[in-house]
Amino acid sequence: MKSLIDILDMTTGELDELIAVAEDIIANPEKYAEACHGLKLASLFFEPSTRTRMSFEAAMYELGGNVISVTGAGTSSAAKGESVADTAKTVSCYTDIIAIRHPKEGAAYVTAQNATIPVINAGDGGHCHPTQTLADLLTIWREKGRLTNLTIGVCGDLKFGRTVHSLINAMSRYEGNRFVLISPEELKVPSYVKKDVLQQKGIPYVQTTDLESVMPELDILYMTRVQRERFFNEEDYLRLKDSYILTTDKLKTAKPDLSILHPLPRVNEISVAVDDDPRACYFKQVLNGKYMRMALILKLLREAGKIR
Ligand code: CP
Repeated sequence: MKSLIDILDMTTGELDELIAVAEDIIANPEKYAEACHGLKLASLFFEPSTRTRMSFEAAMYELGGNVISVTGAGTSSAAKGESVADTAKTVSCYTDIIAIRHPKEGAAYVTAQNATIPVINAGDGGHCHPTQTLADLLTIWREKGRLTNLTIGVCGDLKFGRTVHSLINAMSRYEGNRFVLISPEELKVPSYVKKDVLQQKGIPYVQTTDLESVMPELDILYMTRVQRERFFNEEDYLRLKDSYILTTDKLKTAKPDLSILHPLPRVNEISVAVDDDPRACYFKQVLNGKYMRMALILKLLREAGKIR
């Protein structure tokens, strides 16, 4: 049973195909309006979410399917101690595909091992968030017309930011990309991402704490929130939370065709005034996420033999 747990579960050919399907959905939504008629998505969110949960649910409805959901760990039998494995076996009895968000790294993998239906990782702890990356890829594609030969600045909490780890994994597979990793010392990209992805593939990257000094060289600026929920110590969070605040002033030295992305939610790291800058793409990114999730649901249900 094919599932999406890590962005590396998909080849670049498959990612390109999802982008093509998403573009077709955008151009011809009526073609897809009944594609999942009679099928159900289980939306299992054991951690807070606005975009990912709602976009999965909107995606399934726009494909003509239905949704049943768990929102919050306290509202399901997980609160009574039921294991992730038993939850997966149970949910497989009622639905056709699962999207799961869970605070524990590896929970989506365990779900996929025990479910009899396709499973989509909607974020597992600080590990990865592959469908956010699908939204990011479609946004970069639509803004730049390519996924290659880009200088990608990633700024903020690069340690706990699971969207960052998935994005680096994905964009490292496209030719000619280079990364500028901008973070406080304490929130640098984990060494396994540097060793197993960037260094192993010979991808050029630099690390810096200074956003303004690298601004002029960036094609993409991917801002991220400091992940309060992953900190062990509130004092450290308070000290680091405002390390980077993107303002219109700081954008004065940026390229005229810079694309500013952020997986959202935003806390304080992009000033609201930046929203009016034509280079701000983060709300387009939100919408792109729905189209890519539609394309993904179609792909996995087709491979599972549930639709033609
Ligand atoms: N980007 C993202 O995962 O947002 P939510 O936490 O609101 O789903």
